[in-house]
Parts: sequence; C-alpha cells; structure tokens
Amino acid sequence: MDTWDAITSRRQVRSFTDQPIPEGVLGRILDGARLSPSGSNRQPWDFVVVRDPEQKERLSAVWRGAAFTADAACVVAMVQPIVDDEARELMNRFDVGQAALQLAVVAADERVGSGLAACRDQDLAREVLGLPEDRFVAILVALGYPADRPMEPIKSLDRRPLDEVVRFDRW
Ligand SMILES: Cc1cc2nc3c(=O)[nH]c(=O)nc-3n(C[C@H](O)[C@H](O)[C@H](O)COP(=O)(O)O)c2cc1C
Repeated sequence: MDTWDAITSRRQVRSFTDQPIPEGVLGRILDGARLSPSGSNRQPWDFVVVRDPEQKERLSAVWRGAAFTADAACVVAMVQPIVDDEARELMNRFDVGQAALQLAVVAADERVGSGLAACRDQDLAREVLGLPEDRFVAILVALGYPADRPMEPIKSLDRRPLDEVVRFDRW
C-alpha cells in the first residue's frame, strides 16, 4: 500500500475476526511504533503485547469503552513513565500519540485493523500487566483483522473540511 492509502485505510476498528496476526507482520507493526520520533529522542515508551485470551479479557475491563479489545488478536499496551514535571508529561503524551499513530498506519499498510482505547483503571492495568509502580498505560491499541469491512481506502472520512481547519499566514 502507498502511504496515502495506508493513512486513509486506517480507521477505528472495534470488531475482529479470529485470524491471528503472523509473527513477522506483528513485528513490523511494532517496529513502526518503535521508529517514531520523540522529543530529544527520549523514546518514552515500552510496549506490552497482550496475546493471552484471559489477559486480554481482564485488561478490557479498564473501562467500558475498552471492552471491544477483548476480541482483538492482540492488544498493545503503550506504557510510559510517571513523571512529576508537567512539561515533560505533556511531551511524553505527544510522543506516545505519534507512536500510536505510526503503529496504526503500519498496521493499515499490512491490512491489519487497529482500535485505540483509553486506559481508565490504571490499578487494574498495572495488576494485569505486572507494571512497576513508576509506569502507567498511556493508551491501548487493539490489533486484528477487521470483521466488518476490509482495510481499504475510505473516500470520505468523517472530518472537518480542510478550508475550515487550515488558515494561512494569520488566524
Ligand atoms: C487518544 C484517543 C483515545 C481513544 N479512546 C477510545 C476508547 O477508549 N474507546 C473507543 O472505542 N475509541 C477510542 N478512540 C477512537 C476514536 O473515537 C476514533 O479514532 C475517532 O472517533 C475517529 O474515528 P476513526 O479513527 O475511525 O477515524 C480513541 C482515539 C484517540 C485518538
């Protein structure tokens, strides 16, 4: 897939088939996230890939909007350090957002669907994943082959129009 097709194929996928993701494909998707840029190249992330069905089920209870992740082939928990500096915290969140998107676009390139889920119950996530006290889950990314429609470019995305979003030279 070319870059534009991968970008326009990516969408929030919340229902998945039972088909597993081949090891090599999953490796490439994770590598896409690993290669993301970050402030001062600090790479403030670790990825915990959850494949075990029982683990996925337990993790999917972090909030009701994450329930769909239980049926994914795997769930990538994007883990970050807990920091007490507000500017660093903002930068870290920006960085992990980029990594999550890069992961999702590489997944789309492989025709693998992805679905983001916030992680509200951090205590539960920490217990399920065995995280140290100084780490938290910034976002969950469910991966798998979509059950509803294949990963193909979407002509009209539900987005604000370009001329409303973009201004030139001044606000
Ligand atoms: C930071 C972030 C958190 C999100 N959390 C959830 C979530 O907890 N549950 C969910 O179903 N979708 C979640 N989403 C998916 C968005 O609702 C979705 O990306 C948005 O509606 C645009 O749809 P699209 O991705 O299909 O283009 C999240 C997206 C982002 C960027």
